[in-house]
Amino acid sequence: MRRPCLTAIAIVAALGAAAPEAASGPLVERPIVIAHRGASGYLPEHTVEAYRLGIRQGADFIEPDLFLTRDRRLVALHDDTLNATTNIVEVAAEKGWTDRARIVGGVPRYYVFDFDLDEIRQLTARSRGTAGYSRPGNGFYDGSEPFKVATFTEVLEIAHQHYRETGQLVGVYPELKFTQALGPAGGIAYLTAMADALLAELSDPRWEGLFDRREAVFIQSFIPAALQYLRPKTKLPLVALTFTLPDGTGFPPVPTCPATLEAAQALRAFADGIGVNAPAATEACIRTAQEAGLLVHVYTLTDDPEAYRLFFGRGVDGVFSNHPDVGVRVRDELFPVPEPAAAALFGVALLALGAARRASA
Ligand code: G3P
Ligand code: CA
Repeated sequence: MRRPCLTAIAIVAALGAAAPEAASGPLVERPIVIAHRGASGYLPEHTVEAYRLGIRQGADFIEPDLFLTRDRRLVALHDDTLNATTNIVEVAAEKGWTDRARIVGGVPRYYVFDFDLDEIRQLTARSRGTAGYSRPGNGFYDGSEPFKVATFTEVLEIAHQHYRETGQLVGVYPELKFTQALGPAGGIAYLTAMADALLAELSDPRWEGLFDRREAVFIQSFIPAALQYLRPKTKLPLVALTFTLPDGTGFPPVPTCPATLEAAQALRAFADGIGVNAPAATEACIRTAQEAGLLVHVYTLTDDPEAYRLFFGRGVDGVFSNHPDVGVRVRDELFPVPEPAAAALFGVALLALGAARRASA
């Protein structure tokens, strides 16, 4: 599914003709590249530096996963605990916070929602170091820098500042994360509180309406209930992440990729798009979802250009990428930006067509 090109719309609008009706999602004719947790293949995920690098590498969107702190502030973190991507264990020992751990499987776990934001900001963020993610010594990251856990406000600031300074729109693609640690009822209460906080932050007047624009935001979640809660509250596009949820969440599982048109249409009832795990993103599934009117974004690609060729070739509308420079390079090869002269000619041709239609009417 491809949508009208922004340049053409700008030209038509500037020349006084009616612009095409807004489509679902960003008005671009090329698939988008989403900096997944920032440029997390090069720098510690979900840090200001990783998001900025993603933008420098040409990403169209930056992706924060979100959790709420104890004092109800949104922070960008993938896990519900601080263990894997910060130095909480060392800091807790220093500061006498060890009694704040919950013991899970014999291991002390420090949950995000047990800490206030000012405590989390005293931590150093670091790479999880697993395959596909940054490792010390890769040229961008030496493992010693004092990175911080980013707040959602900082993520919005980065995109807003970039837009103010360059006029180029880089969107935000927040994910409402789920925690099983609070149980099904506590988990849903936490999710809805997070959804409310998200909408409040996006509509803060300091962003001058930037994040009220449908082309500037996608909101994603693995939990259909979160999107169903949001649907009547926002016109922003919603993306259902498809994956079978583990037992015990109390939520109905979302199929890994809709196999039938009916399954895709059921998702379309509350979502504008789906985020599909790459191994499940078959050509048939992508086509079925798009036929139902869903955008299809695939997660998560890293530094292999062939993977991008494969999924762009299957017609996806976007990819989540830990290495946005690689994704952008392949995307630009396969979908070159239209030359301004060609775009202008396209706008003039549209105007001429409109005039001819009016004359014949
Ligand atoms: O949000 C798309 C993708 O990020 C989902 O996976 O686990 O990396 O958040 P995860
Ligand atoms: Ca995510």
